[in-house]
Amino acid sequence: MSHHIVEFEDVHYRYPDGTAALKGLSLRITHGESVGIVGANGSGKSTLLMHTNGFLLPQKGSITIGDLKLNNNTRQEIRKKVGLIFQNPDDQLFMPTVFEDVAFGPLNLGLSPERTRECVKEALETVGCLALAKKPPHHLSGGQKSAVAIAAVIAMQPDILVMDEPASHLDPKSRRALINLLGHFHHTKIIASHDLDLILDICKRCVIIQEGKVVADGPAEELLCNSRLLEENNLELPLSLQKRNLSSGGTMDEITKLRHLLGHWAEHNTEHARTYQDWAKTADSLGRKELAGLLRKIAEETTAMDAHFQKAMELCR
Ligand SMILES: Nc1ncnc2c1ncn2[C@@H]1O[C@H](COP(=O)(O)OP(=O)(O)OP(=O)(O)O)[C@@H](O)[C@H]1O
Ligand SMILES: [Mg+2]
Repeated sequence: MSHHIVEFEDVHYRYPDGTAALKGLSLRITHGESVGIVGANGSGKSTLLMHTNGFLLPQKGSITIGDLKLNNNTRQEIRKKVGLIFQNPDDQLFMPTVFEDVAFGPLNLGLSPERTRECVKEALETVGCLALAKKPPHHLSGGQKSAVAIAAVIAMQPDILVMDEPASHLDPKSRRALINLLGHFHHTKIIASHDLDLILDICKRCVIIQEGKVVADGPAEELLCNSRLLEENNLELPLSLQKRNLSSGGTMDEITKLRHLLGHWAEHNTEHARTYQDWAKTADSLGRKELAGLLRKIAEETTAMDAHFQKAMELCR
């Protein structure tokens, strides 16, 4: 799996009782992106996330993860790459002890018992739950269960981390620790949440789902300050932006917005430059020297733009 692209093309899914939860959903997420999925209750966020690791399979349309098209034969392979944390931790924890629950994934991946022990210890330490290792999961509080479910997924060192309402049971300190932890996870992150401040803190991009379809997709800073769009989706401005609005007399500070947008564009610029370089190598390997040279030049000029973005961001301070 080279670039761990996640691509949904016209995906439809209907539950056995006839509820149509996804109705032609299309979405493409590239390697290293952090994407927040938001929308009203019942809009289809969890159903969408459960398709990312093949827990559910599309009934129409297609899903591609990295180089693999999701189907019954590839779902096991895809699960090694995509770590999904369910909305309800009880759906994820089923072993007699916390330790065994966190060890389950690494052992399944074929890690030795010694290496597994190290991974489990590290993952439980990261979420502050090492002291709970011997407890049965059903004796934990809601927040502790969530933290252990997160540990169980990070212990598998996934390339794509998918979380459904990760902070809903966490106290403020654990929520902040989770935000810090996710900030240090540099692979692809896909997070569904009603906690728009968390989305704003972690995700550069935001996708709004309505009745099983994508209705908006763009920089989180831009979408999450659009009160009208949020209202249409039963959402409210993130608290941090409400505060900013109050302090600026009710209008969103356009320059602050622009600074965040510039940050987003700069990040994409770097990503594009990398892609041009990759394609230059491919063109080289195919003997297309002139094309490769031109792609390298495009990559260089794109990289040179970084300085302009940085300067523009400074001018926005
Ligand atoms: N197991 C199920 N059987 C039948 N219908 C279901 C099932 N799970 C979800 N649904 C329905 O599918 C639709 C999408 O549900 P989903 O759980 O994906 O929404 P969501 O956006 O995650 O909502 P929330 O914000 O409440 O978590 C809803 O209409 C829901 O009632
Ligand atoms: Mg949900």
